[in-house]
Amino acid sequence: MKIQVANKEDIKELLNIEEALFTNDSSALSKASFSYHLKKNIIYKVVIDKKIIAYILWLKRKNYYRLYSVAILKEFQGKGLGKALLEYSLTNLDKDIFELEVRVKNTVAIKLYEKFEFKKVKILENFYDDEDGIKMRLKR
Ligand SMILES: CC(C)(COP(=O)(O)OP(=O)(O)OC[C@H]1O[C@@H](n2cnc3c(N)ncnc32)[C@H](O)[C@@H]1OP(=O)(O)O)[C@@H](O)C(=O)NCCC(=O)NCCS
Repeated sequence: MKIQVANKEDIKELLNIEEALFTNDSSALSKASFSYHLKKNIIYKVVIDKKIIAYILWLKRKNYYRLYSVAILKEFQGKGLGKALLEYSLTNLDKDIFELEVRVKNTVAIKLYEKFEFKKVKILENFYDDEDGIKMRLKR
């Protein structure tokens, strides 16, 4: 398993992950969005046997990074790759504040973020079409 910065050659595989995990989700990233984020922000990919099986997207802000999306193909979930991506991000990103929003019912993701000392800062009512969100923050 390798974690590396993604680049424009990876768009097709990143889109495949997005489509597999977020079918019918209006907030799923398009080809154009991936292209934009690869230029302006940071995407790390997880590669196993030369295939991309997960990614994490961080938006670069002046004083912090905002976690926009993290996605691991279903058959690879629950094997520590989410932890590996967070660990790698926190080691390599050069700011001390990290923020994210997560669905209130996504307990797996919330547990993962809490492992890295993200704290719940507020409830975001109707942040998603069909659900409230929670804003979480890490200051190190
Ligand atoms: C959420 C997600 C990124 C977590 O990554 P993962 O590789 O599956 O998680 P890991 O195996 O690294 O586990 C990390 C922690 O999450 C929690 N966790 C993982 N799987 C879990 C499960 N099935 N039930 C409960 N908690 C779970 C545990 O606290 C675990 O830590 P532990 O193993 O030390 O107990 C991944 O499951 C995923 O891509 N889900 C679909 C997309 C999504 O919801 N993205 C987040 C919002 S954009």
